[in-house]
Parts: sequence; structure tokens; C-alpha cells
Amino acid sequence: MSSPVLVAAANGRTGRAVLRALLARGMRTRALVRRAGQVDGLLALGAHECVLGDLEDPATLAPAAAGCGTALYIGPPMHPGERTMAANFLRAAESAGCAHFVYYSVVHPVCREIRHHRLKLEVEEEVVNGHLPYTILQPARYMQHLEPLLPQVRDGVHAMPFDVDARFNVVDLEDVAEVTARAVEDPRMRGGTFELAGPEALSQRDMAATLAGLLQRPVEARALPLQALRERALAAGASDDRVEQMLLMNRHYDRHGMLGSPLVLETLLGRPATCFEGYARRVLGLAGR
Ligand SMILES: NC(=O)c1ccc[n+]([C@@H]2O[C@H](COP(=O)([O-])OP(=O)(O)OC[C@H]3O[C@@H](n4cnc5c(N)ncnc54)[C@H](OP(=O)(O)O)[C@@H]3O)[C@@H](O)[C@H]2O)c1
Repeated sequence: MSSPVLVAAANGRTGRAVLRALLARGMRTRALVRRAGQVDGLLALGAHECVLGDLEDPATLAPAAAGCGTALYIGPPMHPGERTMAANFLRAAESAGCAHFVYYSVVHPVCREIRHHRLKLEVEEEVVNGHLPYTILQPARYMQHLEPLLPQVRDGVHAMPFDVDARFNVVDLEDVAEVTARAVEDPRMRGGTFELAGPEALSQRDMAATLAGLLQRPVEARALPLQALRERALAAGASDDRVEQMLLMNRHYDRHGMLGSPLVLETLLGRPATCFEGYARRVLGLAGR
């Protein structure tokens, strides 16, 4: 088996999906986590190695990157330290002699009004100007944002904190993870930036209608007031900065949505991307019916 792929933020939602996709393709993986209590869970998932490291502490990243072929950067969402953390990881990968750096960005980082888009744009520039062969991935908003809402949806309400008619090319994280694994394997993806958006431009109203059809009951699309989002996030322990960034992003979504083209994703998958109905059937346990 070849040298391991180092996966940052491996215990997160994206990190775990990417690890599963790498493992499904028979790749050797090294999961980077910052808490010892996360190691057993990742080894149980199938990671070959698990190392402790903090993206904010460069000294912990050099040993983590040693001997790895690809270093795959996934950062915590909406974090004010995105630039520093990604630079720390990039420098560690360069010093360790890694052959390839993958940066997990976001669709349309040019939407600089949203801080984490602007920070990712700045990191993209640093990656392109860096010393390693690179691949930049730009995923759209995940379909998986539905999952925490499922209990309410089953009660007949689909509420998200933006206009019910704002449209998004939501993407299935499983598709994105599959393409991320391809980015590690396929040398033709080096030196490229790839937008990864889902196949349909959907509003909350559209998604609620699909869910209503599948559940065979009315599901109403509602715009959750931002004040309610703020209170809910603070009660869940989110920092003031995280809450402010969530509000900023959702105000932008309210006005503009976030569209994208599925063409790159479908070309890289070599098949149609997962549609919202297909994804919803899967998470509702209706697949194949
Ligand atoms: N959600 C979307 O729709 C979407 C779309 C496109 C791109 N993205 C991007 O995908 C990335 C991952 O998002 P996600 O939703 O998968 O995140 P997530 O589930 O919140 O996971 C983030 C992970 O980062 C870890 N982490 C935080 N600070 C760290 C540090 N200093 N050192 C090492 N690890 C640290 C966390 O570890 P602990 O468990 O220890 O806290 C957690 O496991 C983000 O950059 C986001 O912008 C997301």
C-alpha cells in the first residue's frame, strides 16, 4: 500500500465522509484529530493511523505530515483562523516533502462579503503560489444540512434561516467525498480548481415539496428568523464570532442564494450527481421504494 493520505479535521462531518471514500478506494489513511478521545472512533471507522495535532500549533503538524504522500486540508467551518491554520498545514506538508496538497475550499470564494469565503479565497491564492502540486476543491452547500431538521420535517415544517425562494445547487457530501478521493489518485487533477455543485437549483420551497411527496404529508417551507437562529446557536454553545458569521452568511443566502454548475462534479464522478430526491430517499430510509 502506498504512503498515507493525511486528512485534517478528520473527525468532522466532511473529514469522516472523505476518510470513508479514501478507504473505499483502498488508500492508506492517516487521520489528524486534536483530541485523544477521538482516536478510537476513527480507527474503528477504518483509518490506518490516527495522529494528534492542532491546526493552530505548527509544532504538532510536522510529525503528522512525515511520510505522507498527499496532505488534504479540511478546516473547521467559519473559523477566523482559516488562513493561519491552512498555512501551518501547507508549510508542514512542504517541509515533510509531501507530493501533493489538496485544499478543501468552498463554492464561489469570490463572495468576499462572507468572511469564510474571503479567507478561503486568500488561502487558494497561497496554495496556487506555494511549492507543492495542488488541487483545490470548491464544494457547494451540502444536502446534509437537512439531517438535523428531519424531526421537524416529519412534523410538517422545513425551516431554514433564509428566504424560502432563495436557490442553491445543494450537493450530496457523499459525491463530494468520492471526487475528493479521485483528486488524491488522479494526477490530472493536479494544478486544477474544481467547483463541486449539485445538479438542481433548488429553493426551500422546492425541497419541502419533494419531502412532502416522499412523506405523503404536507411540509411547509418557512424562513427561520435570524434572531431565532442566533438564540438557538448561542444556547448550543456557539461562540459570538461563530454566531455573527452564521448570520452574515445567511443574510447573503437570503439575498442571493448560492448557485453553481454540476458539470464539473458530474464529469469527475463519471455519472449523474445525486439529486435531492435521491438523497432524501436515502436519509428517510425510502431508498429503492
Ligand atoms: N457545510 C457545508 O455545506 C460546506 C460546504 C462547502 C465547504 N464546507 C467546508 O467544509 C469544511 C468542514 O466543514 P464540516 O461541516 O465538515 O466541519 P465540522 O463537522 O464542524 O468538523 C470540523 C472539525 O475540525 C476540527 N477542528 C477544529 N479546530 C481544529 C484545530 N485547531 N485543529 C484540528 N482540528 C480542528 C473539529 O474537531 P473537534 O471535534 O475537536 O472540535 C472538527 O472535527 C469547512 O471548512 C467548511 O467551510 C462546508
